[in-house]
Amino acid sequence: MTDVVDRADSEELAGLSRLARTSVKLILRLQDESGAYPASPTFSAYRGYSWFRDGAFIADAMSAAGEIESAGRFFDWCARILDARSSQVARIVGRAGTDDPVPDNEMLATRFTFAGDEGEDEWWDFQLDGYGTWLWAVAEHAARHGLSLERWQAAIDLSVDYLLSSWSRPCFDWWEERAEEVHVSTLGCIAAGLTAVAAALDDQRALDVRVAIHDIRALIRTRGVVDGHLTKWLGSTAVDASLLSVIHPLDVFAADGSIGVATIAVIDAQLNFGGGVHRYLADTFFGGGQWPLLSCMLGLAFSAAGDRERAVDQLRWAASTATSTGELPEQVEDHLLDSSMKAEWVERWGAVATPLLWSHAMYVRLAVELGLEVRQ
Ligand code: BGC
Repeated sequence: MTDVVDRADSEELAGLSRLARTSVKLILRLQDESGAYPASPTFSAYRGYSWFRDGAFIADAMSAAGEIESAGRFFDWCARILDARSSQVARIVGRAGTDDPVPDNEMLATRFTFAGDEGEDEWWDFQLDGYGTWLWAVAEHAARHGLSLERWQAAIDLSVDYLLSSWSRPCFDWWEERAEEVHVSTLGCIAAGLTAVAAALDDQRALDVRVAIHDIRALIRTRGVVDGHLTKWLGSTAVDASLLSVIHPLDVFAADGSIGVATIAVIDAQLNFGGGVHRYLADTFFGGGQWPLLSCMLGLAFSAAGDRERAVDQLRWAASTATSTGELPEQVEDHLLDSSMKAEWVERWGAVATPLLWSHAMYVRLAVELGLEVRQ
């Protein structure tokens, strides 16, 4: 806190803290009574759905902000969804590694309605990362607040079995793109989740998890690193800002280790423009703007690497994207990578998703990391 105070005047700091507190309030207000966190309450393509990925990061931020009950209710929602799909998981596990694995459209979905079903709308549903990220988030939550994982154990075991059987399959990435690739951030989320729950498993699962973690890390090091930095997918040379999460808060590769340092540096150089971070250089979604949630992820990585000043810069930029009513969008259009693509998306789905709860969550998470007061 003192370091931050040294560099930002107290009035500015109060404003940054205020936005963190209103963000926590906004998330609490919008959390469904089922425990689900809506991705965005109004945006046409997201309305009515909660994602394992977004939700896990939102729950982690709420947990870090001291909102223990809210985070716990989200994990209960995840657990109900998994428990209700134990026979689907058994089928997937049973056929994995045979010459007749279940097809992608029979794998677990990436998002669910608040009531916990898959919903009627078509989606790019096969994404493995969320099942790792929720494991990581629930274990972090339990460790942070001295809670037992017992309440979620059955769902944890199901997620572990699912990931152990299928972690090497290609699937859609964080951005619901490129289903034919194995994405390094997805592998990182899975490794983080398996690592986080390893101590809570029975002996056989714990052993299998240790082997999988070793294999995932080895695969990343051999095929997911180019010029010393993590890459967007195995065999690619590009980077993607989602890789920042693998460094921190998922802590799969240390921020001050060689892979961490190189990955932060290349993402900062290629994707960060004045604090606003793009997803990846070829992005055209809504013209390919800058994402406050990714700016905060870069801030978290800077913080983990010991650079608090640059971490505060990232928080400051994210705060600058808030609307006059204090809502954070999914992206802003000040610096578009391909402005010719913007209109097409607006026509298809309407204006950029605002508020996006995941943006608020990453803002809160970075504010907590920097020692700002976020409690109500
Ligand atoms: C993003 C996903 C996100 C979803 C809901 C999509 O546009 O690509 O990462 O989970 O929105 O926020």
